[in-house]
Amino acid sequence: MASASSAPLKVGVLISGRGSNLQALIAVCAATGFPAQIACVISNKADAKGLDHARKANIPAFVVSHKDYADKAGFEAAMEAVLERHQVQLVCLAGFMRLLSAGFAERWRDRVINIHPSLLPAFPGLDVHEKVLAYGVKLTGCTVHFVRAEMDHGPIIVQAAVPVLADDTEETLAARVLQAEHKAYPAALRLIAEGRVNIIDERTFIADAAIAGEAFFSPKVR
Ligand code: GAR
Repeated sequence: MASASSAPLKVGVLISGRGSNLQALIAVCAATGFPAQIACVISNKADAKGLDHARKANIPAFVVSHKDYADKAGFEAAMEAVLERHQVQLVCLAGFMRLLSAGFAERWRDRVINIHPSLLPAFPGLDVHEKVLAYGVKLTGCTVHFVRAEMDHGPIIVQAAVPVLADDTEETLAARVLQAEHKAYPAALRLIAEGRVNIIDERTFIADAAIAGEAFFSPKVR
């Protein structure tokens, strides 16, 4: 991975919808001296709102619809052609709702990261906040992790915890988690772009990580 002193890390962002995490990545990459830049955005849906965020920021944005290909291999090859044309070094999945093949995960091993709205390995998959509320956990959050073939699985880079409140609905909880996502994803991208993330035996080790060393209780205890 690039270090802070070299050229910015070239990032490709894959989306399927709203693109608020993409927006957070665009904002942080626009900051002077940030060690990564977004080289292209790809959506598998033509009506994804996130495409507008990319276009407004003058980032090349493409629609590669899975429906236009006979199989997943063709769909992924079309996406990879765009990524390669833009010399992408790291792929960020930001609300990209298609499961990538094992082949893709292997070809891009340690070069694809994802954000998921739970504290993995709890609550992988879809309908996360509904499941969190149904289970009754008191803390949830978000996870940024390297992508492996298995869904929502792979070495964890950054996690953020938020409380689950008694009167939460899926909407209020999703909004609280999303605020944390918008900090966690840029933070993880920065760590990688600064060359500070090492993967050893499927765990990440972060050079000079500042750790908040206190327990976070929910509910608060005296
Ligand atoms: C985010 O909450 C993200 O964590 C989730 O989709 C949402 C996309 O929002 N991703 C997944 O559930 C992937 N397993 P956004 O389009 O506004 O960034």
